[in-house]
Amino acid sequence: MDRNLALEFVRVTEAAAIASARWMGRGDAKNADQAAVDAMRKAFDSVRIEGTVVIGEGERDEAPMLYIGEKVGKRDGDCPKVDIAVDPLEGTNLCATGSPDAIAVIAIAEDGKFLNAPDTYMDKIAVGPAGRGVIDITRSPTWNLHALAGAKRSRVEDLTAIILDRPRHKELIEEVRKAGARIRLITDGDVAAAIATCKEETGIDILFGIGGAPEGVLAAAALRCVGGDMQGRLKYRSDDEMRRAEKMGVKDHNRIYKVEDLAQGEVMFSATGVTDGAFLRGVHFFGGGCTTHSVVMRSKSGTVRFIEARHHFDRKPNYET
Ligand code: FBP
Repeated sequence: MDRNLALEFVRVTEAAAIASARWMGRGDAKNADQAAVDAMRKAFDSVRIEGTVVIGEGERDEAPMLYIGEKVGKRDGDCPKVDIAVDPLEGTNLCATGSPDAIAVIAIAEDGKFLNAPDTYMDKIAVGPAGRGVIDITRSPTWNLHALAGAKRSRVEDLTAIILDRPRHKELIEEVRKAGARIRLITDGDVAAAIATCKEETGIDILFGIGGAPEGVLAAAALRCVGGDMQGRLKYRSDDEMRRAEKMGVKDHNRIYKVEDLAQGEVMFSATGVTDGAFLRGVHFFGGGCTTHSVVMRSKSGTVRFIEARHHFDRKPNYET
């Protein structure tokens, strides 16, 4: 994959972030998401790739744009053939309420290298590079906290777990508290939460819990780039979801997916902050323009670039609406 594409992909997440940031705090998650989808779709048109969306807004009949199977990119000449995972607005409610950590995200891999994750749940555990190789989702949260504390040469009491605040996590939360670790409960956004485990300044050490399976693939792509670790196991809400997963190629419903199973080969990841967060600042508007804060990374080189951009709407009328 051409490394120069990385900057092109940042333009795509920037466009989605700017469009959805206009809906920040307006209590309208649906329109915020739609704005991000429209802007991302349009931005892809100028990227020289032959892309296929494999993780997207849903299946063709339920998503008008960026649906699974949709072809995106400029598609001229001999452009690279890539698979694309998108979440134009990860944390729609976070954006609607002006809460931290809403982001626009894409990940790119070579043809066939992402898990074609069905739109179901995934039980996840994720850590930064210091915890690589020590986590095991088949063991208890207490076991994993002790293993991570050992690897980090710290005390369990000094670790912070990040967990989606959901009734389904009642027992998980109780166990982590009993083990003595600290917890940051979040209302949404477990992609940003997984990435936060990789940056010491966030103070987050480990992600536990059940969130979206597509978000699991996006998080895995990011963690592959920074040397973090993750494991996931699909969790179905219904028989229908299980059948859809089978149609998408899932054979073993109890399979434990390692980070390399979720996102294989060479991957790129780009995210732009929509609202201010632990990892990325959000879109800030000023008279006639705005600033954006993005991260772009590649698994091949492990380079992590933070890009701060100043956009001027008079020279970029696309961003005006
Ligand atoms: P959306 O941006 O699609 O609203 O997803 C937000 C999110 O919090 C994800 O980060 C997470 O994986 C998933 O929803 C959890 O699902 P649920 O809200 O059903 O618990």
